[in-house]
Amino acid sequence: MRAIARAQPNIALIKYWGKRDPIRNLPAVGSISVTLSDLFTEMDVEIDDALNDDVLIVNGQDDNAMLARVSSCLDNVAGKDRSAGRVTSKSNFPIAAGLASSAAAFAALVVAADAAYGQALNRAQQASLAGRTSGSAARSLLGGFVELENHRDDIVVKSLLDADDWPLKVVIAITASGPKAVSSGDAMEISRKTSPFYDRWVEQQAADLAEARVAVLDRDLPKLASIAEHNCLKMHSVMWGSRPPMIYWNSATIACMQSIRELQSHGVAVFFTIDAGPQVKAICAAEDEQTVRQALIATTGVVEVIVSGLGEGAKLVTA
Ligand code: PMV
Repeated sequence: MRAIARAQPNIALIKYWGKRDPIRNLPAVGSISVTLSDLFTEMDVEIDDALNDDVLIVNGQDDNAMLARVSSCLDNVAGKDRSAGRVTSKSNFPIAAGLASSAAAFAALVVAADAAYGQALNRAQQASLAGRTSGSAARSLLGGFVELENHRDDIVVKSLLDADDWPLKVVIAITASGPKAVSSGDAMEISRKTSPFYDRWVEQQAADLAEARVAVLDRDLPKLASIAEHNCLKMHSVMWGSRPPMIYWNSATIACMQSIRELQSHGVAVFFTIDAGPQVKAICAAEDEQTVRQALIATTGVVEVIVSGLGEGAKLVTA
């Protein structure tokens, strides 16, 4: 009747932006990500027949803003007739700031809810259900390098490489804390409806995925760097071309990109990616971690730098 699960955020190298079915939250495009090891969210789900409604506590405080999404995720796992649950969430990193906190949260929630409500789902079913609440959450069910594919009216996640097969580092420059003004879910719908670049984005995604998949399987960092930066900037071009425009960057975001260009010009194998927030994620070989970290700490406007390796998919920590 109670279970706790832990999941790590994932960072997309080939991005998900846009829904083909907004009701079922199915993505318009496939994506490729890396699951992190050092950042995590824990979800504790306790079924309590004495409760009339679900309760959500995030980092020690009642959270009504996220409660509806959490309840609908529990409905997806256990059905609408289920007993109410008390859900307690804890993260060791800033939430709702473009660090994929919802991915980690909903991956952990599905795994914990599955055990607490005794559903005995397999990984594929868990991924599909996590994806209904947050598209990127499906990828946090697996570790290392993960590809999410569209299959008819569902999604499928596959492991391309384990974390140990290519132990890259992700150096995250925090340039602003606090929640974002527009959620990624809302913003991608605005892009779908208004951006003149949206259709071309969707059309080109299969080619970007193919190029990145080969680069991952070959462990070819320069090749992965080139396609990942291209795909990231293309996604932001779609956002900038939306009405109203979705501009998540600040001046420090751009300064970080310049610092990474500078490192690249000195032969450091590193590349950037940016999601629906102002933080910059630099992906590099393990031996370059210190160099990249120092360069980002020294960049004007960077508030904090967090480093993570690559890790495993969501798992139960107690049952
Ligand atoms: O899963 P959502 O709704 O939080 O959207 C994720 C969107 C991006 O982070 C910008 C890209 C991605 O693939 O993770």
